[in-house]
Amino acid sequence: MEIEIDYQPRRWAESLHNRLKRWIVLVLHRRAGKTTAVLNHLQRDATSVPESNWAYIAPTKVQARLIAWPIAKKIARDIPGVKMNEQQMSITYPNGATLYLLGSDDVDSLRGLALWGGCQDEASQQPSNLFSEIISKCLADHLGYWIWLGTPKGKNQFYRTYQTAKNNPDTWTCIFKTIDDSLRDEEGETINNLRQALEDDRRLVAQGEMTIDEFNQEWYNSFEAAIKGAYYAAEIAEARKNDRIKTVPYDPALKVHAVWDLGTGPQLAVGMYQGVGRERHMIDFWQGSTSDGIPQAVKALKDKPYVFAKMFVPHDARATEQGTGKTRIQTAKELWPNVEWEIIPSISVDDGIQQGKLFFSRLWVDEKNCQTWLDYIAQYRQKWDDNRGMFLEQPYHDFTSHAADVHRYAAIVADLMTNEEIKTYKQPEPEPASMYGG
Ligand SMILES: Nc1ncnc2c1ncn2[C@@H]1O[C@H](COP(=O)(O)OP(=O)(O)OP(=O)(O)O)[C@@H](O)[C@H]1O
Ligand SMILES: [Mg+2]
Repeated sequence: MEIEIDYQPRRWAESLHNRLKRWIVLVLHRRAGKTTAVLNHLQRDATSVPESNWAYIAPTKVQARLIAWPIAKKIARDIPGVKMNEQQMSITYPNGATLYLLGSDDVDSLRGLALWGGCQDEASQQPSNLFSEIISKCLADHLGYWIWLGTPKGKNQFYRTYQTAKNNPDTWTCIFKTIDDSLRDEEGETINNLRQALEDDRRLVAQGEMTIDEFNQEWYNSFEAAIKGAYYAAEIAEARKNDRIKTVPYDPALKVHAVWDLGTGPQLAVGMYQGVGRERHMIDFWQGSTSDGIPQAVKALKDKPYVFAKMFVPHDARATEQGTGKTRIQTAKELWPNVEWEIIPSISVDDGIQQGKLFFSRLWVDEKNCQTWLDYIAQYRQKWDDNRGMFLEQPYHDFTSHAADVHRYAAIVADLMTNEEIKTYKQPEPEPASMYGG
């Protein structure tokens, strides 16, 4: 049966729809028709593979519902026999294939699901480890394809994925279009409006209402734009200028201190530091991916080649977990008895950020191991109040928060990360107390 979908692809989208490669990166200006194009693309493929699964991932579930769900429903509604699940935000086509709409803040349902293909929309605003930790596994069974798309937001994981795509045309499809490309190549009502919107924005820049950075980011895909309200922008720039963000090797003569932010999945983040005189070397950063929480982290840290001294955990480690009836610190101590567990003194978030700024001046960061952390800390920013048109004195809570919390905590205990004992031998581990022993 032939079904006609009311969709005329943009020119740039034709090359997406004819894609030959498994990995696809789309860097396009605002309002280029990205979301519309990928949803059509996924639907086309879903309707041609019976019983297959597909995923569209927005930065948050709220965004998926607000922005993508209406488009997905609109393009699917004319297909006879199609079923929409409002609550779950999924569309099941008559051939049994299902398209799931998700937020990167809530991807637990993906675990264990085989995917034939999918995308991350506004990929620059999603956790860096989502693809490597979860999605890549979902795609393995059927050699599914993946599309990263969005407008830039600084030099983060999306930027690096774009670089990889550009440098490896044999295995990647890469599409990069600025507003000038669209105004030249495309037509129609929305394009005419874009021409006007661009001119209006140009005027806003001249009037000081919009920064040239923002303008270039949104319309010309600039990865260079500063992130507004970023707490640590100046400190990071200073650290880079002074060459303190580079290869910072692990010194086997020194023990390693770990600073934890507790939670499950990516909320559990651990920074690893060595103290050299007054300097603190951040040599590694780890972030969780499963709902295990502490056991996953303990196992991951034990697998590292480091000799650990102290584990600093926030005061919520004293909270009792429903499932186990134990406090988090008890659980941690049982899993790893031969390191020291210490509770970080609790201070206000504001004071913590101030200390975090000061801490940067004596922090060296390993650029490779801590790449994710660097992405996040650079994006950690103040909350914006749209109604009042001003920044609030509180952080915006998103996937960057956990890395930033690690930094705040590390700043508080920086002076305690001292021991410079010479490592003579690695303490023998006791027999594993549980399946997580390592
Ligand atoms: N193929 C198309 N033909 C005509 N209009 C389109 C097409 N694709 C998108 N549009 C229109 O362009 C506008 C932007 O579409 P869409 O939301 O898909 O773009 P986007 O690049 O994802 O935007 P944003 O940068 O805001 O996320 C919408 O009004 C949409 O209806
Ligand atoms: Mg979009």
